[in-house]
Amino acid sequence: MSIQTENIQKLVQRREKARLGGGPKRIEAQHAKGKMTARERLALLLDEGSFEEYDMFVQHRCTNFGMDASHTDGDGVVTGCGTIDGRLVYVFAQDFTVSGGSLSKTMSEKICKVMDMALRNGAPCIGLNDSGGARIQEGIDALAGYGEIFERNILSSGVVPQISCIMGPCAGGAVYSPALTDFTLMVKNTSYMFLTGPAVVKSVTGEVVDQEQLGGASVHASKSGVAHFAAENEQEAIDTIKALLSFIPQNNLETAPIVETADPVNRMEDSLNSIIPDNPNKAYDMYGVIGSVVDDGRFLEVHRDFAKNIIVGFAHMNGRSVGIVANQPKVLAGVLDINASRKAARFVRFCDAFNIPLVTLVDVPGFLCGTQQEYGAIITNGAKLLYAYGEATVPKVTVTLRKGYGGAHIVMSCKQLRGDINYAWPSAQIAVMGADGAVNVLYAKEIKADPENAQAIFDEKKKEYEDLFSNPYQAAQKGYIDDVIEPRNTRFRVIRALEQLSGKRAEVPAKKHDNLPL
Ligand code: HXC
Repeated sequence: MSIQTENIQKLVQRREKARLGGGPKRIEAQHAKGKMTARERLALLLDEGSFEEYDMFVQHRCTNFGMDASHTDGDGVVTGCGTIDGRLVYVFAQDFTVSGGSLSKTMSEKICKVMDMALRNGAPCIGLNDSGGARIQEGIDALAGYGEIFERNILSSGVVPQISCIMGPCAGGAVYSPALTDFTLMVKNTSYMFLTGPAVVKSVTGEVVDQEQLGGASVHASKSGVAHFAAENEQEAIDTIKALLSFIPQNNLETAPIVETADPVNRMEDSLNSIIPDNPNKAYDMYGVIGSVVDDGRFLEVHRDFAKNIIVGFAHMNGRSVGIVANQPKVLAGVLDINASRKAARFVRFCDAFNIPLVTLVDVPGFLCGTQQEYGAIITNGAKLLYAYGEATVPKVTVTLRKGYGGAHIVMSCKQLRGDINYAWPSAQIAVMGADGAVNVLYAKEIKADPENAQAIFDEKKKEYEDLFSNPYQAAQKGYIDDVIEPRNTRFRVIRALEQLSGKRAEVPAKKHDNLPL
C-alpha cells in the first residue's frame, strides 16, 4: 500500500470515528430519549449531499479535572454550511453525545466561525441546540465562549436571519443566544429552556415545578412567548425551519424568493362580503379572511399559541412574500394588550429589517384597560408596536375591516405612521371609541337627569353617533383612508397596491440607532 493510500485510509477512519461523536452507546441513549443525533438532524435539514463540514477535527484545550485525557474530534458540535431548497445556509448542531453538548471554548470558536461566515456571505444562520450549557470543567473560558456567540448574534441581527431550534436542554445564560435570534423553535416533551432549573427554583422560592412546566415547549409557545413555534417532534421542527426560510430573504440586502402560484390575482372571494356579523359585538374568525386573500390559502403562523388576540405570520401574495398582522376578533375581541403588542412589534421589525412588505388587517376595539395592564406597562409595550410600524420603511398596506377605535386605530399602521395604502371595508368604524362608550361619556349628565327617558336618550344619541362615525366615510372624506373597497375584492386590491409599492423608497433620519421603548 502506498503512503498516500495509507494516509487516505487514516483520514477515512478518523472521519468515521468523528461522525460517531460520543460513540454508539451514547447515540443509543440519545435515541432512547426520542431525540436524533446532531448529524441525523442536519441530514434532515439540508439538501442531500450539500453539507460542507468545517472543523471536524477540532478538539478542546481544557486540562482541568483530567480533561486532557478525554478528547473527541469535533468537540460536541457539528458545524458547516449547506443548502436548503438550493439556498445557502450556515449551521451548527450541538452533539449531546459528547459531554452533554456542553459548550467549551473551542466549541464556541467553531460556532463563531460559521456565524462570521454567515454574516460575511449574507446567508441565514441556523443553530440546533442540545446542550448542558457551559462546560463546567472550563470555567470562565466557557462563559467567555458564550459572550463571543452573543456578540455575534447581536452584530448579525437585522443583517442575516438567525434561527434557533431547541432540541434538548438549554439552560442558564445559554438561553440568551436563542433569545437574541429572530426565531426560536422548540420540540415538545424533549426540549426545555430556563435560566435556573427546578432544583434551584425549589431551593430559592420553594416552588415545586418540573422541567416541562417550568420551561417546556408548550409553556414558552403559549405563556412566555419565548418560543415562536412548538413542534410535535424533531421532524416537524425541521420542516418548520424550511417553511420559514421559504418566506424570508438571505439577508437584509435581498428580497425573499418569489414562488410560482396558480392562484389568480383577481380571484374574488364572495364569502368576505358576508363575513362581518350585523351585531358589532359579535366575533368572526380572522383566519377566514387571511385564508381567503393570500395565495392558495397558505399561511405560516408565527407565535400561534401566544397572545392569540393578534395574528402574525407569513404568506405569499401573487408569489411575493408578505408579513400579515391581523387583530383576531374571536379572542378578547381583538383588543391590544401587552403580549399582543410585543408579539406584533417584534414581527413588524423582523419584516422591516428583511424587506418583507406588511399587510395589516384591522378590527381592533382599543387597548385592554385595567390595573394588570397598566402595572405591566401597557403604555411602554403598546408604544413598541406603534414605534415598529412608524419606523418601518417596507411597503405597508392596511385594510380596516370593522373597528378601528382610538389609539389602537393609530397604532395599527394608520396613514400618519407612514402607512402607504389604507383601505377600509364599508363595515369599518373608524372613531375615537365605540358608540355605546361615546354616548355614555358625552351624555352621562342628560341620561342621569332623566331616568325615565334614559334609554330613549341613549338610543337617539347612539344613532346620531353611529350615523356620523360608525362608517369609514369620515376617514375617507379626509383622505385618511385611500379607498373604501368591497370585501370580495380585497385580494386583488392588496396585490395591486403591493405591486405599485414594489419600488418604494423611504428612509428614517440618520442616527446611531433608535431608542425603541423597551
Ligand atoms: C460538562 C456536562 C455538562 C456541563 C452535562 N455534562 N452537562 N459536562 N459541563 N455543563 C455531561 C455529563 O457529565 C455527562 O457526562 C453527559 O454530559 C450527559 O449528561 P447527563 O447528566 O448524563 O445527561 P442527562 O441525565 O440527560 O441530563 C442532562 C442535563 C444535566 C440536565 C443537561 O447533564 C445537567 O444538569 N447538566 C448541567 C447543566 C448546567 O447546570 N449547566 C450550566 C448552566 S449555566 P458523562 O461522561 O457522565 O456521560 C450556563 C452558563 C452560561 O450554561 C452562561 C452564559 C453567559
